[in-house]
Amino acid sequence: MIVKTDGKQIDTVRLFDTLMEDFPDMIHSVDEAGNIVYFNRMSMRLLGYTAEELRALNISRLYPPEIMEAVETGFREVKQTGEKRVESLFLAKDGTRIPVELRTLTLCDDQGAFSQTFTVSRDLRKFKELQADLIHAGRLAAIGELAAGVVHDLNNPLTAVILASAVLRKVIDRPDTPPDQLREHASAFCATINESAATMENLTTRLRDFSRGVKEQHKLVDLFDPINDALFILAQRMRNNNIAVSCTVVKAKHWVLGDRNQIQQVFLNLFANACDAMATCDARELAISVDTCTKEGAVYWRCAVRDSGEGIPQEIQDKVFKSFFTTKPRGKGTGLGLSIARSILAEHSGDITLSSEHGKGTTFIVRLPTLSVLT
Ligand SMILES: Nc1ncnc2c1ncn2[C@@H]1O[C@H](COP(=O)(O)OP(=O)(O)O)[C@@H](O)[C@H]1O
Ligand SMILES: [Mg+2]
Repeated sequence: MIVKTDGKQIDTVRLFDTLMEDFPDMIHSVDEAGNIVYFNRMSMRLLGYTAEELRALNISRLYPPEIMEAVETGFREVKQTGEKRVESLFLAKDGTRIPVELRTLTLCDDQGAFSQTFTVSRDLRKFKELQADLIHAGRLAAIGELAAGVVHDLNNPLTAVILASAVLRKVIDRPDTPPDQLREHASAFCATINESAATMENLTTRLRDFSRGVKEQHKLVDLFDPINDALFILAQRMRNNNIAVSCTVVKAKHWVLGDRNQIQQVFLNLFANACDAMATCDARELAISVDTCTKEGAVYWRCAVRDSGEGIPQEIQDKVFKSFFTTKPRGKGTGLGLSIARSILAEHSGDITLSSEHGKGTTFIVRLPTLSVLT
């Protein structure tokens, strides 16, 4: 029993029972063998099992087979460390895979030996939808940027076509032009028109491919492609800002499994941020390189994007990946680029980190699992 401030007594056991039962997240507990020994009402709602069915289940049935190994490792870890917070997937009765955030504590007996886990699981489906919307919003902004660049770049070949056809018209109209000369001129102008048309086709194809942007299955992606596409999209801005770009990433060497458009979006934002950061600096260099590194036994491509810009002050370095954090003026920055980049990379089992010294530039490191079989 506890006594409330107004002097009334409350039955704590009943209070906690009600709290657990009606808690808006799923709460469950499993014993050493993984048998479910407690679950609240939300567990049944989330997973679609009846109480009888859940009571008879081993916890392993609540996870999809493809992540079982990670689940078992996590279970061993939580027993050692006493608590753990991870993102995972539940498998509902109807086969739906539900993204969840799990916060687990271990309960021990009087001798300090493990007795059971206690987990609060939050359904992340709404959150993931919102995240997908944010990625989409980022794409729209990138399409705007690309469209502006494409329109600008279309001008040169377009002018060439207009000029070449006008001069060709004049040559044709001149009655005294000898046929040989006419043929020679005509073929030279046709070549110019053809080349210009091919350049324009290339530009519009890129714009079309990028704007499609529908959610795609993860496919084989050559890192060279999204990096080069992003550099292409920003080429105009880089030229206008006198930025010297060096990129040592070569074709057909760095393979990953992923969504080319989304990876491109990550690099697009990193390069755009680098351009912004160098706007007030004299030396303007953007260097992109890739090598490998290992993390927990797995091999990753480690792609470094280094700029010689103003750098990121130490005190905001852990804030830049948060949604809506921006130091740019209204209308220029949304503060979404890096948070979107981080969620895209997490979806690709990769990550992003930074190192920076104020006034000396910034390096972002993007890590993505290698597909070494193909190299
Ligand atoms: N290369 C960089 N150099 C300096 N600051 C950077 C760099 N990249 C990102 N930042 C900082 O991180 C913030 C968040 O970046 P981002 O999420 O892309 O949003 P936005 O570009 O819209 O501001 C930026 O406003 C800037 O302060
Ligand atoms: Mg940005």
